[in-house]
Amino acid sequence: MSWFILSRCPYFVIEINCKKINMFKDKFVNRHIGPRESELSRMLETVGVSSMEELIDQTVPSSIRLKKPLNLSEGLTERQYFRKILDLASRNKVFNTYIGMGYYDTVTPAVILRNVVENPVWYTSYTPYQAEISQGRLEALLNYQTMVCELTAMEIANASLLDEATAAAEAMSMMFASRSRSMVKGGVNKMLVDEKLWPQTLDVLLTRSLPLGIELEVLPLSGFIADETVFGMMVQYPDSDGEVRDYRELVGQAHACEIKVAVAADLLSLALLVPPGEWGADIVFGSSQRFGIPMGYGGPHAAFFAAREEFKRIMPGRIIGITKDANGDRALRMALQTREQHIKREKATSNICTSQALLANMAGFYGVYHGPEGIRYIAERIHLIAVFLSEAITRLGYRQLNRNFFDTIRISLPRHVKREDIEWLSLDLEMNFRYFDNGDVGISVDETTNLDDINWMVEVFARAANRPVPSIREINSNCSIDPAFKRSSAYMQQDVFKKYRSETEMVRYIKSLEVKDISLTHSMISLGSCTMKLNAATEMLPLSWIEFNGIHPFVPKNQAMGYHLMMEDLRRDLAEITGMADVSLMPNSGAAGEYAGLMVIRQYHISRGEKNRNVALIPASAHGTNPASAVMAGMEVVIVNCDNSGNIDTADLRAKAEQYGENLAAFMVTYPSTHGVFESAITTMCEIVHQFGGQVYMDGANMNAQVGLTNPGVIGADVCHLNLHKTFAIPHGGGGPGVGPIAVAAHLVDFLPSHPVMNNGHIGINAIASAPWGSASILPITYGYIKMMGADGLKRATEFAILNANYIACKLKDNYGVLYTGENSRVAHELILECRHLKSGSGITEADIAKRLMDYGFHAPTLSFPVHGTLMVEPTESESLQELDKFIEAMNQIFLEIREIESGMADREDNVLRNAPHTARVIGADQWNHSYSREKAAWPLEWLKTHKFWVPVGRVDNALGDRNLICTCGSPKEYEMFREE
Ligand SMILES: Cc1ncc(COP(=O)(O)O)c(C=O)c1O
Repeated sequence: MSWFILSRCPYFVIEINCKKINMFKDKFVNRHIGPRESELSRMLETVGVSSMEELIDQTVPSSIRLKKPLNLSEGLTERQYFRKILDLASRNKVFNTYIGMGYYDTVTPAVILRNVVENPVWYTSYTPYQAEISQGRLEALLNYQTMVCELTAMEIANASLLDEATAAAEAMSMMFASRSRSMVKGGVNKMLVDEKLWPQTLDVLLTRSLPLGIELEVLPLSGFIADETVFGMMVQYPDSDGEVRDYRELVGQAHACEIKVAVAADLLSLALLVPPGEWGADIVFGSSQRFGIPMGYGGPHAAFFAAREEFKRIMPGRIIGITKDANGDRALRMALQTREQHIKREKATSNICTSQALLANMAGFYGVYHGPEGIRYIAERIHLIAVFLSEAITRLGYRQLNRNFFDTIRISLPRHVKREDIEWLSLDLEMNFRYFDNGDVGISVDETTNLDDINWMVEVFARAANRPVPSIREINSNCSIDPAFKRSSAYMQQDVFKKYRSETEMVRYIKSLEVKDISLTHSMISLGSCTMKLNAATEMLPLSWIEFNGIHPFVPKNQAMGYHLMMEDLRRDLAEITGMADVSLMPNSGAAGEYAGLMVIRQYHISRGEKNRNVALIPASAHGTNPASAVMAGMEVVIVNCDNSGNIDTADLRAKAEQYGENLAAFMVTYPSTHGVFESAITTMCEIVHQFGGQVYMDGANMNAQVGLTNPGVIGADVCHLNLHKTFAIPHGGGGPGVGPIAVAAHLVDFLPSHPVMNNGHIGINAIASAPWGSASILPITYGYIKMMGADGLKRATEFAILNANYIACKLKDNYGVLYTGENSRVAHELILECRHLKSGSGITEADIAKRLMDYGFHAPTLSFPVHGTLMVEPTESESLQELDKFIEAMNQIFLEIREIESGMADREDNVLRNAPHTARVIGADQWNHSYSREKAAWPLEWLKTHKFWVPVGRVDNALGDRNLICTCGSPKEYEMFREE
């Protein structure tokens, strides 16, 4: 229809045309959900139902179904959303920000932005639990650890933690846990903390110390007294004013009394300053944000954590280590996995699971790209700019208070200069400074600060003082660091930090790692409880925009209006989806959400005069982070049994709720259960807990089975966390970032975590993370997901998640057996495949199946969680029917391979499963001594001939690596390990 005709049409014709146009619009939901509507009937038939409604009726108990659709806006097309988010972005104002306080502008090298951050191989992979198909990111993380060890001069480092403040809390817990026997016996529980730590770090320390019974004494350094009442000390280097102080004497005194010393450090400053490892620190931690990670209005950023080797068994987080594979070749894997909190459960001292792997990878690559001389140059340039500014501003009559500093100056204003004048003059020039309570002004410069910026800053101070700008030529800009603080030792001398200076070399290095890993770009990652769904490109695009990532978290709110409009809308949507009253976006992971939620519950009880309520009832099937979080929140964990069908034993729950009665604080429940079932007794369970005055905490890991069909509010929960990195499309990033917001019922809203620097709209408990709105810069991903899916699309996604799981269950149940199902023999959005019965006849374990799946190009399902000897499969709604069928075919073929062993056709020891995975080198070697063919090993199914993922290493030897812990590259120990052969 031409414009001419349209413009002369009566109104009803236009209306009809609009409807038609809408009908044909490209709905995002059709891109997000894998199976085609045309395949639906075939899938339903396989499952044995006539409609999706019938399947959902059989799966989700009617008592908890939503009575009306979610009150969310209609789904936008990708183009519509793009315009919406562009509009929001335009409402954020990107000023030059010199606030510092743990956040600095930085340059993300474009080669890293394009090839890592914007590359789905890096951002859609999972935590490297399956080492053989994760060698690329394991190497990137090893580089990160090595860089941290080198810069801090410490012996071991992990990769990585959630943020600087939670890393401080982990350091506190670690020092507390490593108290000597006599200290424990004497009840020594005091930690001295220098008041010159970032305020957000102090606040999180306070939150975390309270439930553990740790007495924090926050005081000036001059008041530190090392005596037998103290177990730990914490200082910052440079301190929160920017002053570099000498802690050598203090450390000596502390160690003389067996007191441990933890140091919050600026990683970049350590390129110039004597590193804490050289003056005796026990733990060094901080943020690696300024190694190329945008400020992003607070996150995500990786915290680093380094310690002396004696702490290796109680270090929180993941440590990547070197070992050998089955062929004797070098291989990497997560070391000491058995000491992770998953195993320790209620004995845990940390609940770190998802952390910030992608961000640690970025920081590591930044180190690789710049190398030691590049890092030194960046640090020196920053320092010289700070010196220059200090001189210039001093000449204008101001007093610069820091004697030794790296990047930060603190300026005391002359009497005739008003702080307000500095503020409005700088805002007028689109600059933000830090303003201290006493009227001083702080300036922290960074890698991006240039000559123009310096001129503008000096201009502000000149105009405020009514003085002419001093001549630049007269100003000294030599290094001002006292020789006593100057670093003389070399760092980052390993090959990897020397080889990749040109972009060509760097791209090739990144690619050489990338090809070693399986991600969602290769095949379905069916990890149960992890929801590895599509992370759509449109959702990801805004992450690279400066309007989102170039903003410091402590700027005035009117510079971040786009963020605030988005976050308000998102909170409203998440509250609607969960059926709760309000949401805090602060927690940086699911486990951090658990902790935050339990602390909210704790405070609620305290506010009612029921401080005694400290028992958390947790089902035996719970994820390890649940009891770990409860312990960290100061609760006593009492396990509730599960019955033979995998359901929580309601009678046991009632008995324990009654037994602990007036001390009952909370019941932590995952729903649908970690056994992949919608338990119909859930409302009864919530009633029991409430009857005895407890609160119900729902672990939202399985929320992907609830959205639009039911919700935690309807079920009866008081608090839940959501894993935005599972249900709401944030990619897993190879082990983070994550976002674990908590949603709470009305009576708990007043207890949601506040922030000491910014008013984040909540007035409750102290902060549980560094940034006021957590990992704000990745919230547009979830926002985009919800806005593009709309109410109908979200519900449809849940339905397909359930259908896909039931489809797999029907196809694999005969060979493997599905361990648990609901009352109508349905699984929820995931299923547990039984593998234990295979062992007696074949010797094959679930681990062998997991490794053999790699030969078929698949990442293994979740191994031995929540039930030992099983595989938990969660396909998600995003996997197409053709991909589901490929996975099913692979699993069934593996089953036949197991049968061959059972029947004696294949050797019990030398078979394709026990020797899996097979590398290209093994398959292509001149020698082949196996009882099966190369063809069978490498190409057991036809489609593998055109689509083969070659694992880079054979099965890794975990025990060897744990016996010889090597967690940096190029160490002499590594040469020894390989020389022994
Ligand atoms: C049931 C359950 N709860 C909690 C968690 C911890 O979440 P996160 O890794 O985001 O800390 C997981 C992690 O996979 C989980 O599966």
